[in-house]
Amino acid sequence: MTTIDAEARHGETGLDGAQIGGFTAHMVTMRWTVDEGWTGPVLGPRTDLSLPPATAVLHTGQSIIEGLAAHRQQDGTVAIFRPRDHARRFQRSARRLSMPPLPEEHFVRALETLVAADHGAMSDQPGWRLYLRPFMFASEENLVPRPAREFTFVAIAMIIGNYFGEDIESLSVWVCRDFPRAFPGGTGDVKYAGNYAPTLLAQTKAGQAGCHQVVWLDAAERRWIEEMGSANLFFVRGTGSEAVVVTPELTGSFLPGVTRDTVLALAARLGYTVRHERMSPERWREECASGEITETFASGTATVVTAVGSVTDGESTWAIGDGTPGPVSRAVHQLMIDSQHGRAADPAGWRHPVRTPA
Ligand SMILES: Cc1ncc(COP(=O)(O)O)c(C=O)c1O
Repeated sequence: MTTIDAEARHGETGLDGAQIGGFTAHMVTMRWTVDEGWTGPVLGPRTDLSLPPATAVLHTGQSIIEGLAAHRQQDGTVAIFRPRDHARRFQRSARRLSMPPLPEEHFVRALETLVAADHGAMSDQPGWRLYLRPFMFASEENLVPRPAREFTFVAIAMIIGNYFGEDIESLSVWVCRDFPRAFPGGTGDVKYAGNYAPTLLAQTKAGQAGCHQVVWLDAAERRWIEEMGSANLFFVRGTGSEAVVVTPELTGSFLPGVTRDTVLALAARLGYTVRHERMSPERWREECASGEITETFASGTATVVTAVGSVTDGESTWAIGDGTPGPVSRAVHQLMIDSQHGRAADPAGWRHPVRTPA
């Protein structure tokens, strides 16, 4: 694939480079009011939302999202990957934004209902899956900046796939020095919808620099790498069974990815040493030049596991290894997709089977 093809691909698809196959037919809704608490879930056709102009979310921005996936299993059934972990993060996001936390059981049941209704639309091609997007917003009519008294929860689904099927791909990244994504005490560690709009300018600049994705630095010192686009980052030192997989410690200003947690467990299962360590772009460049860092990869629900092939920081650009996905990235990626599709053991119970109508 040429660089131009790759840029067009990543620029247009948006969802961390995943290929988009269209929304499914249904959606699930729930409603919360101060007086009645939660009602629903209601399964219905995916349809437009009709909102009065004074709907609070349009004025105060009280809106949170999640992103998780359901996969076709080897035996033909369907399972959602780690829905309870996403439910708990959705609750943390809600509390941070002064919204009512949706009980874990409600979250899981809503997604089971949606997947059971729409699993038939899933593609059986390698690398394709059902991306689930639950979100919640302040649906009360109110212009005053106070916590709303009515919220709407909606879950929709989209078919997505990888351009390389079940193979892993390689991206170029641009270090963003000017616009931090998040700051200590802010909302970077939850999935607040408003976290994403301010990142679009940096994403445009990354594209202008010929790169697919943005690497975010901490806001206080503008020195420490936090994450990449909408994914968490891992650096590999050494090779073979001696490889050490390093990722930044959670600081509270970037997202604790569920996939990040999965990668840490799978890397350990593969026999690699796993370590938390701060990494600066300067050190990253030096250790790539000396051959100490052999690979870098990113993880996320949409990204799955994607290698980083080259980095641009200001005027300098450097390659990671030979610029193609290395063996550690490949091994983690393979075990990840095998775990998601029911082809690997599931000791931690990550796969949540969905009962589908016969
Ligand atoms: C900012 C950000 N970082 C990291 C991730 C990866 O998180 P997860 O692995 O839970 O998809 C996401 C995606 O949700 C994200 O939006």
